[in-house]
Amino acid sequence: MLILIDTEENNIILRDQKKDTENLKDLGHISLYSKESFELLNELQIKVGWQLRYPYTASWLGFQLLQIPPDAMRMQEIIYKLRPDIIIETGVAHGGSSIFMASICKLTGIGHVIGVEKGLLCRERIESHDLSEYITLIEGDSISKETVDHVYRLCRRTDRVLLILDSCHRKSHVLAELEAYHHLIRPGFMIIVQDGNMEVLASAPRGDPSWTVDNPQEAVKEFIAHHPEFVIDQTDLLFDIDGIGRNITYHTSGFLRRI
Ligand SMILES: C[S@@+](CC[C@H](N)C(=O)[O-])C[C@H]1O[C@@H](n2cnc3c(N)ncnc32)[C@H](O)[C@@H]1O
Repeated sequence: MLILIDTEENNIILRDQKKDTENLKDLGHISLYSKESFELLNELQIKVGWQLRYPYTASWLGFQLLQIPPDAMRMQEIIYKLRPDIIIETGVAHGGSSIFMASICKLTGIGHVIGVEKGLLCRERIESHDLSEYITLIEGDSISKETVDHVYRLCRRTDRVLLILDSCHRKSHVLAELEAYHHLIRPGFMIIVQDGNMEVLASAPRGDPSWTVDNPQEAVKEFIAHHPEFVIDQTDLLFDIDGIGRNITYHTSGFLRRI
C-alpha cells in the first residue's frame, strides 16, 4: 500500500499500489489528526522501531527491560488496579520486567513476582538486589510439567494472580502456556499475552513470513474459542479524554480478562 501524508491539507491518502504505478487506486482519505491516523502511524512506527531494535533500548533501575515504554506504563496501571497477590511472568530475560513489577509491588504494598526463565542469566543480579524479596525465580521450560507444578506449588488457592506470558512467542508454545496456567486466574483478573503484533512485524526486513500465522495472537484466538470465560479487554485506558480507545502496544489482542 502507498501511504501519502499531506501535511498541507492535513490528510493521509491510501492507495493500492499495483505493479502499474500509473494506475493507482485510491483506497480512501484519513484526516491526519484523527484516531484512524494515530493507529495507522503507530503501527508503522512500531514496525520501523522494531526493525531498529527500539524495544531493546528501555531499562528500569539499570536492568534492561524488553518492553516499549507505553507497554510498561500499561503494565503498571494493570498491577495498580488489580493489586494481585502473585504476578507470574514467563520469560525473564535480563530481569528488567521482574524488577519493574517488583518495584510496583513494593510501592503498592502488595504482590510477589514469580519469574520463569529457561536460560536464567540474571539470577545473581536479581537475588542480590534490594527488591529480591519480591521475586522468586524458577529456571526451566515454562510448559514443562516440572515448571508448571513448581509454579502451582508457590500459589495458594486464594491468591489473586496476574499472568504475563513473554517467553517463546510461537503459537503452540503460547497456547500450551495458556492451557497450563489459566486455572490460576480468578474472575476479574488478567492474562497479558505479549507480542501479539508479530503478524504486523512479519513483513519487516527483520521479520519472518511464518509470523503471519505463527504468533501469540493466533494462540489467543484459539484459546478464547474454547474458553468463553476469557475476553479480550484491550481498551481500558485509564485517562482517555478524546476517546483514542487503543493504547500503543506490542500486545495486540493480548489483554485477556476472566469474566
Ligand atoms: C522477550 S524475552 C522476555 C523479556 C522480559 N519479559 C522483559 O520484558 O524484559 C523472552 C525470554 O523468554 C525466554 N524463553 C524462551 N523460551 C522459553 C521457554 N520455553 N521457557 C521459559 N523461558 C523461555 C528466553 O530465554 C528469553 O529470555
